[in-house]
Amino acid sequence: AQDKRESLYVLSNWAGKYFKEQLWETEAGKSIGLSYFKERGYREDIIQKFDLGYSPDQWEALSSAALKAGFQKEYLKEIGLCIEREDGNIYDRFRGRVIFPIHNLTGRIIGFGGRTLKTEKSVPKYVNSPESDIYHKSDVLYGLNFAKKSIMDNDTCYLVEGYADVLSMHQAGIENVVSSSGTSLTTGQIKLISRFTKNVVILYDGDAAGIKASLRGTDMLLEEGLNVKVLLFPDGDDPDSYVQKVGSTAFREYLDAHQEDFIFYKTNILLKDAGHDPIKRAEVIRDVVQSIALIPDEIKISVFIKQCSTLLDIEERVLLTELNKMKLDKA
Ligand code: UTP
Ligand code: MN
Ligand code: MN
Ligand code: MN
Ligand code: MN
Repeated sequence: AQDKRESLYVLSNWAGKYFKEQLWETEAGKSIGLSYFKERGYREDIIQKFDLGYSPDQWEALSSAALKAGFQKEYLKEIGLCIEREDGNIYDRFRGRVIFPIHNLTGRIIGFGGRTLKTEKSVPKYVNSPESDIYHKSDVLYGLNFAKKSIMDNDTCYLVEGYADVLSMHQAGIENVVSSSGTSLTTGQIKLISRFTKNVVILYDGDAAGIKASLRGTDMLLEEGLNVKVLLFPDGDDPDSYVQKVGSTAFREYLDAHQEDFIFYKTNILLKDAGHDPIKRAEVIRDVVQSIALIPDEIKISVFIKQCSTLLDIEERVLLTELNKMKLDKA
């Protein structure tokens, strides 16, 4: 089994090199892929560093090159670089897309995300490698291999939604950033982060989906004892588009000025929704106390209770009673 995994790593890294060569050394790669990245504002050193690539717009470009290089069809299927047809022939998963390789902590390539260059809504924007023996999605954070040192140095980790956000922030000199690649956070990913820091800042897209995601995945972070801050970008922007628009200095200032503690952020968002409706406000109070109850640190809990009592305009005593009730229910 170890041998098989090793073969999958070798194949995966070979494919990474293949896509990279396609990007830098072929006419189509240069005129379509490389110019796409440059139009998005990525510098060559960043394109190199992240091993970005291009997959030719053909059915069997990678497959035939891989078979010719001596790789087995079974392994190509296993890591999802190829898909088998009913007649037993295989075709490439990634066709006519720019490629974002996904690295593990030691920097080996374990999977790929491929972005379409088309604008039609009918085409999926990203195609991703499936789970495999070397790619367990729930235990991987995109960019962590490039970020870990900076996460430790800054004792903070920025969490973003997408590949492009990681790249643009690196380019702006902010390297302590990882992406959950559009899916909700898993406990595995949270444990991974907490090996390097206890402080997380969530930078989600400034759209309805981003707000929802920021409220959803966060209770797990609190349970792990992490300090969570949140920052939303102006409507329609994500970290990538915003930093490309305003530049790195203004972006850093925005980050410093707008990050807010998650508990207060959540309280304010929910309160805004509830308006003056007393039933809804009662629900908000319960919801907020429920999040506070997840925090393993008693001192932090009492600080939050105190401040939320002001925000919610309700006596601390009431919040504490509710909190203790919830903790009893959990125990
Ligand atoms: P977004 O839709 O925010 O895309 O999805 P993005 O990262 O801003 O991409 P650009 O800027 O248009 O290139 C966030 C992340 O969700 C995953 C990807 O990892 C993406 O980076 N995703 C999104 C998919 O896996 N498949 C999709 O079809 C869309
Ligand atoms: Mn697994
Ligand atoms: Mn989005
Ligand atoms: Mn986005
Ligand atoms: Mn984007």
